[in-house]
Amino acid sequence: MIIGVLGAGQLGRMLALAGYPLGLRLRFFDPTPDAAAGEIAPLMTGSYNDHAALQEFAKGLDAVTYEFENVPVEAARALGQWVPVLPGPRALEVAQDRLVEKDFFRSVGVEPAPYRQVDSPSDAQAAVEELGLPCILKTRRGGYDGKGQVVLRADFYAADAWQEIGGVPAVMEGFVPFRRELSLLSVRSATGEVRCWPLVENEHRDGILHLSRCPARESTDGLQEQANAHARAVLEGLDYVGVLALEFFELEGRLLVNEMAPRVHNSGHWTIEGAQCSQFENHLRAVAGLPLGSTELRGYSAMLNLVGDTPPTAELAACEGLHVHLYGKEPRPGRKLGHMGICSSTAAEREAVIERAESLLRKSSASVSG
Ligand SMILES: Nc1ncnc2c1ncn2[C@@H]1O[C@H](COP(=O)(O)OP(=O)(O)O)[C@@H](O)[C@H]1O
Ligand SMILES: [Mg+2]
Repeated sequence: MIIGVLGAGQLGRMLALAGYPLGLRLRFFDPTPDAAAGEIAPLMTGSYNDHAALQEFAKGLDAVTYEFENVPVEAARALGQWVPVLPGPRALEVAQDRLVEKDFFRSVGVEPAPYRQVDSPSDAQAAVEELGLPCILKTRRGGYDGKGQVVLRADFYAADAWQEIGGVPAVMEGFVPFRRELSLLSVRSATGEVRCWPLVENEHRDGILHLSRCPARESTDGLQEQANAHARAVLEGLDYVGVLALEFFELEGRLLVNEMAPRVHNSGHWTIEGAQCSQFENHLRAVAGLPLGSTELRGYSAMLNLVGDTPPTAELAACEGLHVHLYGKEPRPGRKLGHMGICSSTAAEREAVIERAESLLRKSSASVSG
């Protein structure tokens, strides 16, 4: 079976790696010739707006999926004429626009932080008055890793904030004084079976995911059921097939949804070592029409991102309990170059491995800048 993937970054690369043992072959489509997945599977380069190129790409494919949620919806719809596209283009449409996404969440009973549509400086001002400070202004489209956002505190004029994000259509959100950030990876098969992995606890640095732990350090009792029910509502609302990630804020024993990703997600990379079936394998199983694999844990897992500087690969590889994954990308500030997976038999051992990895990274960045 051959599956086409729109986007050929590290997520695509890890999908391809998960596909080989199952006998699934992947082919990629991406505008960038040196995209990370191209090193290990065929990559066709072209524009997502070139429907003739997409038609060429579709030849011989059994299904098409995506690893990048900003693929133009029209590209996914065009491909849908020639080959099944999973998850369906509606999931892309919802995930690409924060306002549409929040309205959709509410329509299926999943509560986001309070929000207002902002299309002008006066909308921004009115939103601040209604939501109170602090609040956070986000572009509706195109934001990722904390880009296209500005936090408004007491001394900030709302109109300036709107200029700062480029004066484009936006949403203002109430700032959530969350206890933790949690995410849920879930998967739905073509026959409607739903499975969820346990909730993941996430820490961000400069708007970029830094560290994920699963299970979370402190109990998620009561929250897991809420999260699973939210995932089911979203998956069924979109008649979704594949892996879906939901990002949540935990506030006073309940979950507010932040955003969704209609694809495999950075906070699910630990599943490679830490779950019976990884997010990558289960996404492919769903798209290929195979039965889903178990989402049970193998231990106490974590994932640390390798961002920006060339990682000290040999030192990290020498560290017991650390699995190094590199994406074959050139170093650049803020760029995700790889990650490390950890799966320990106790929570204490997991913390010890995280600490060793962090200390190796600190030493290596000190030697780079010194
Ligand atoms: N309403 C909010 N209240 C508090 N923190 C927020 C809020 N929205 C975003 N953040 C912080 O900023 C991070 C990135 O925001 P997010 O909306 O997830 O954008 P991105 O698409 O860049 O991931 C979140 O993980 C969280 O740490
Ligand atoms: Mg996010």
